[in-house]
Amino acid sequence: MSQTPFQTVPAPPAAPAVAARAVNVTKVYGEGDNAVYALAGISVDFRAGEFTAIMGPSGSGKSTLMHCLAGLDAASGGSIVVGGTELTSLNDKQITELRRDRIGFVFQSFNLVPTLTALENITLPLDIAGRKPDEQWLNAVIDRLGLRPRLGHRPTELSGGQQQRVACARALVGRPEIVFGDEPTGNLDSRSGAEVLSILRAAVDDFRQTVVIVTHDPRAASYADRVVFLADGRIVDEMRRPTAERVLEKMIHLDELVAR
Ligand SMILES: Nc1ncnc2c1ncn2[C@@H]1O[C@H](COP(=O)(O)OP(=O)(O)O)[C@@H](O)[C@H]1O
Ligand SMILES: [Mg+2]
Repeated sequence: MSQTPFQTVPAPPAAPAVAARAVNVTKVYGEGDNAVYALAGISVDFRAGEFTAIMGPSGSGKSTLMHCLAGLDAASGGSIVVGGTELTSLNDKQITELRRDRIGFVFQSFNLVPTLTALENITLPLDIAGRKPDEQWLNAVIDRLGLRPRLGHRPTELSGGQQQRVACARALVGRPEIVFGDEPTGNLDSRSGAEVLSILRAAVDDFRQTVVIVTHDPRAASYADRVVFLADGRIVDEMRRPTAERVLEKMIHLDELVAR
């Protein structure tokens, strides 16, 4: 494996097989009569080197869970550990650094900087962190994602699928401990969506990356090794080796449960 600046930091004793863990995580928005219990006690592990999809009806807490896991939002209770670090023990500055150095993100809306080229967008998080990209790794990611001919283009000169591939490269280039995606294919046509999902799948298979996405698309979920189903802020089921058909069936069942 090639050396990256991050890997020169002493590893925690016994490399964690669990990339992220939530234990009894709760999230309450608002207070008193207005309180909304978005997460009602979630416990879940995300194994290193696995691709997990989080699914559930609208409003079931998927985005909230992902934001809490990724340190974008604070949980109201419980414990969240990412790569051996307990998030609740960190101050704001430490959380910001953990997000920057150890977590990759792919958002539905791409979130690229419009004034920067594709290449500048890809290396931006490393530049901000004052880290030099591992050139060999950077080139491997660029080629694997087919971005070589687009590196000098700005986001407006790229299709949605190309923009999301740039966002994937940006998420992968720092070799984060975990990559989170909130509906990463939500704004893409089915062909571009499939391309992005294949890239995330390859990141797991070829680069041993850990990936967790939120999706409402059973076909997107079928790229994952495992699907975790949420309803009303709770984990209600999970499925290994999902197929689109089995996931769709489960989702219809969950929607019926929630509608009751
Ligand atoms: N900032 C917020 N303030 C108040 N309620 C919120 C906020 N964000 C989410 N919620 C509520 O929390 C619940 C879960 O939301 P969310 O995690 O966005 O669900 P999902 O991503 O599964 O659609 C919903 O009832 C939603 O209305
Ligand atoms: Mg959401």
